[in-house]
Amino acid sequence: MVSAEIEDYLETIYDLSKKKGYARTRDIAAALKVKPPSVSQMVRKLGKLEYVKYERYGAITLTPKGKKIAKEIRKRHDLLSKFFRFIMVPLKIADEDACKIEHHLHPKTVNQLLKFVEFATADENSEWLRRFGLYSKTGKMTKCRRMRG
Ligand code: FE2
Repeated sequence: MVSAEIEDYLETIYDLSKKKGYARTRDIAAALKVKPPSVSQMVRKLGKLEYVKYERYGAITLTPKGKKIAKEIRKRHDLLSKFFRFIMVPLKIADEDACKIEHHLHPKTVNQLLKFVEFATADENSEWLRRFGLYSKTGKMTKCRRMRG
């Protein structure tokens, strides 16, 4: 089993690589809010585990093995963040909390959440969603319009 810390590194390297094709120690350190020597130490470990490769001039790239894990974590992150946004958690908190729990869920739970988010967001004008928004803000339960006489 891959540790949450390793998953966070792989996810971060994946995100940084999308922009430039590689990640650098100082960019990883800034993104994860850790010191560059800690990043160097972890990157060596990731190299031994064959999750990353070092290119010339300090460029760090993911191996296919590392990329597979990173993509899965990124998918979970996006799904959880979407779910939290769906239940009207503010964006910044939704994103931070997604990153905290993305490592700990059973694949079945992730799959069901994915289905739920897809199903519930299919209709942008959902009456149910509008009523939930109102309830979140006011604490008042409203009856469904269609139910009213
Ligand atoms: Fe994340």
